[in-house]
Amino acid sequence: MRSAFGRELGRVIEYHPTIRSTQDRARELARAGVTQPTVVVADQQTAGHGRGEKSWLSEPGASLLASWTFRPAPADPGLFALLAGVAVALALRSFGVADAGLKWPNDVWLSGGKIAGCLAHGTGDHLVIGIGINVSQRELPVEIAATATTLARAGHDIDRLALLARITTELDAVADPANRDAALAEWRRRSITLGRDVEVSEAGGAPFRGRATVLADDGALLVETPYGQHRVIAGEVRVLG
Ligand code: BTN
Repeated sequence: MRSAFGRELGRVIEYHPTIRSTQDRARELARAGVTQPTVVVADQQTAGHGRGEKSWLSEPGASLLASWTFRPAPADPGLFALLAGVAVALALRSFGVADAGLKWPNDVWLSGGKIAGCLAHGTGDHLVIGIGINVSQRELPVEIAATATTLARAGHDIDRLALLARITTELDAVADPANRDAALAEWRRRSITLGRDVEVSEAGGAPFRGRATVLADDGALLVETPYGQHRVIAGEVRVLG
């Protein structure tokens, strides 16, 4: 569907009241060779997922659930997912939410809870970035209630469509290599991981602890341990204390 709103966004908008996952649908479009920049948006996902194939839970109509296609890929998926967190934080700033923090690799936090997550898939040929934001829920599922929050619970009443438009603009900005250094600097400035003691769990390895010190330009997190510096490119990082 190419609507007037889609023209304003510079993208085809594919809207679904309900879908299994906007990410799966956008990947399907990208793999099928669709060249027009597209954003797949839904009011509800029945099988939304996050990193590590964890479920992404959302109450119908209360979250921003969207996946954008890029062709060619603006960056490696890992780096772009991190930059997408910057895009979300900058979009929120335009609605008066100045204090969104970024947790490595691609979570957005507000008022002590996670409000958004970003997920990227792709090849050099194309990239799909999916973003889920908890917008207007007052209650959260018990599985995530201890760690997540919503914009509404943090005191912000933000229109999902307006947020979608602004995030699209900010994603296009962070996708531009000319803005890469500024976007990485913004991530470092908003980081709630750097300078903190963390526990890192990488696939297939035993968890280890250290101090997160540096975000490298490729998105890797450098962690100082008693045994030397460890470069983390994928994994779960828990901030301690
Ligand atoms: C994470 O924090 O692990 C990333 C969560 C990404 C969730 C979004 S919601 C829209 C898109 N569709 C999905 O199935 N996942 C992403």
